Amino acid sequence: MSRQLFVTTALPYANGNFHIGHIMEYIQADTWVRHQRMQGSTVHFVCADDAHGAPIMIAAEKAGKTPQQFVADIAAGRKPYLDGFHISFDNWHSTDGPENHELAQDIYRALRANGLISTRTIEQFYDPQKAMFLPDRFIKGECPKCGTQDQYGDNCESCGAVYSPTDLKNPYSALSGATPELRKSEHYFFKLSDPRCVAFLEGWTADGNHLQTEVYNKIKEWLVPKEDGQRDLGDWDISRDAPYFGIEIPDAPGKYFYVWLDAPIGYLASLKNLFTKNHGATEGAKAFDSFLADPATEQVHFIGKDIITFHTLFWPAMLHFSGRKTPNVVHVHGFLTINSGEKMSKSRGTGLDPLKYLALGMNPEWLRYYLATKLNARNEDVEFSPEDFMARVNSDLVGKFINIASRAAGFIAKRFDGKLGGTSAHGAGVLDILRQQRDSIRDAFEAREFARALRETMLLADRVNEYVDQNKPWELAKQAGMDAHLQDVCTVCIEAFRLLTIYLKPVLPALAQQVESFLKIEPLRWSDADQSLGAGHVIGNYQHLMQRVDAKQLEALFEPPADATPAPAGNAAAAPPAEVPPGAAPGGEAIAATIGIDDFAKIDLRIARIVHCEAVPGSTKLLRLTLDVGEDHANGSPKTRNVFSGIASSYQPQDLIGKYTVLVANLAPRKMKFGVSEGMVLAASHGDEKANPGIYVLEPSPGAQPGMRVK
Ligand code: MSP
Ligand code: ZN
Repeated sequence: MSRQLFVTTALPYANGNFHIGHIMEYIQADTWVRHQRMQGSTVHFVCADDAHGAPIMIAAEKAGKTPQQFVADIAAGRKPYLDGFHISFDNWHSTDGPENHELAQDIYRALRANGLISTRTIEQFYDPQKAMFLPDRFIKGECPKCGTQDQYGDNCESCGAVYSPTDLKNPYSALSGATPELRKSEHYFFKLSDPRCVAFLEGWTADGNHLQTEVYNKIKEWLVPKEDGQRDLGDWDISRDAPYFGIEIPDAPGKYFYVWLDAPIGYLASLKNLFTKNHGATEGAKAFDSFLADPATEQVHFIGKDIITFHTLFWPAMLHFSGRKTPNVVHVHGFLTINSGEKMSKSRGTGLDPLKYLALGMNPEWLRYYLATKLNARNEDVEFSPEDFMARVNSDLVGKFINIASRAAGFIAKRFDGKLGGTSAHGAGVLDILRQQRDSIRDAFEAREFARALRETMLLADRVNEYVDQNKPWELAKQAGMDAHLQDVCTVCIEAFRLLTIYLKPVLPALAQQVESFLKIEPLRWSDADQSLGAGHVIGNYQHLMQRVDAKQLEALFEPPADATPAPAGNAAAAPPAEVPPGAAPGGEAIAATIGIDDFAKIDLRIARIVHCEAVPGSTKLLRLTLDVGEDHANGSPKTRNVFSGIASSYQPQDLIGKYTVLVANLAPRKMKFGVSEGMVLAASHGDEKANPGIYVLEPSPGAQPGMRVK
């Protein structure tokens, strides 16, 4: 059944670049959206910058920009993150766009017509020098309880006391240093304490479909009357006085909507902007109205746990009492923490900078996969652990899933011109097991239980690998008269790989695309799991689909920024360049004497594939590499080389298997204690290895084939 969905993520404040917490939210929502699209549903997936509010206005002033220019500059930096992590928003807009001004004012007018807006005069701190009312976080002073200086207007970081700004002793403005004055001002309120609102919210939050149970249990506390008969849910102050960067309140000169009033309306504004982009102004506006009002449209918001009240109380009430449909689901996720709950901090190097991740050449789908293995439908924090990340990606994603294709595809290409065969009864049984799990995996994605979806999928991958191990295609390939059987076994593997790709596609969209072109098929939909490619289908040449995570990349990722400590030697391409003192030898040693091109030509450098790698018993320095340098491929019995390399201090053997590197192929063989070394692998290191440890094996760009000469 095809559904009609309107999906959003929280609108990030336009006062800084994305951090990894934002990216996690987008990956979660994007995975769910891609799952829906694969089911054939129509999805409008939108977001926008949350542009308004005092903090942004003040930050813009500090930067010497207008607020409009300031948020435009932030918006201009969004694309590399979103493209980089394959986030498939249909639209990115701004809460300062004309659609939002109009919608916010419309909604306000409707609430007012409904008798739900009131005004009241309140007293607030005013900065006479800046000529503006001060938000709580811009007022500082001495804690009224313990006397600690320089505490914020709402709570004391020293003794933990909670108070209001007017309780502070010797208060001052954090903007100008001036002593603030208490001034009166008329404020506008949304009357959430109105019995109609309370009744509506009691019903809406209790309806089991809108909220996760734990979210409902929390939010309920706002609605239940306390001993004194009062509820925590009071009227909501929705106005701010000029100067303010925001939307003007109709018929109230000098008054603006508090940023949290217009921010969620920005969801609708971005959707409207998308419709007008697609259908033109007039038609678009009509289509937007009817889409939003259509009972079939499901409105789903993904948000973090810190903004629950805005989304589960204020926002549904705003929509309902302005005559609009309310959200179908508000889905709340926990916070991403790094290294055992440590608060993310850039200066201490415990943060995970999304752009640095990409710049290091780390695969965005590693992160998508890893986060998906940790995400479920509950509002729980998610811990990023580098070791766990590496294990999940290397042993499960690459070791179990990608491996299936790499074990079978070569035989199909080389021995059968890319043609698939039939499937034996045993093989068909394996494929049946994979198909039987299909609905369960779909249901897990639907319920946002991504961890379960991936767990089930990886168990299936285990079944397929067992099948491969039982049938040993590499041995069949050596036996006479086993051709048809070899073809069938490999065909089962390719079919199984296709099914697993379908199940993983919401998480791994770019990889799925590579698989589609390798298998020469149309974009995979969920329903394609019913079919099979069939005997005679011709697949393309297998290109290595995904590398393993290199521990070095993770080290570099969590290395504090260059201004804190210099980047490690050998990582110059990836990490920000280290400062080299003038006159110092680059890399710790002077450049060698000049040679001619003829001298260089004597060295025969070749691309090598690391077929196998193992530790050398009795040596702490050496690893034994088995290399394919493309020799004797033509006569069917490829020759490999045995090479010893002094890189054991920097690499785990299993992490090198399957990688490509560069070999000095015409170096005279050397007899060593452990055997003969038939060449030398290229690696970078600092001239002073003691002071600057770290060895970096060279790796060609993707596409280079074993045996290609490097010159
Ligand atoms: N501008 C408001 C939202 C308005 S929605 C109408 C806001 N912006 S934010 O930039 O601070 O946060 C945007 C989203 O990122 C929120 O859902 C927030 O919960 C989420 N996250 C912020 N830090 C996070 C983590 N460390 N981990 C996961 N999500 C986090 O709030
Ligand atoms: Zn205190």
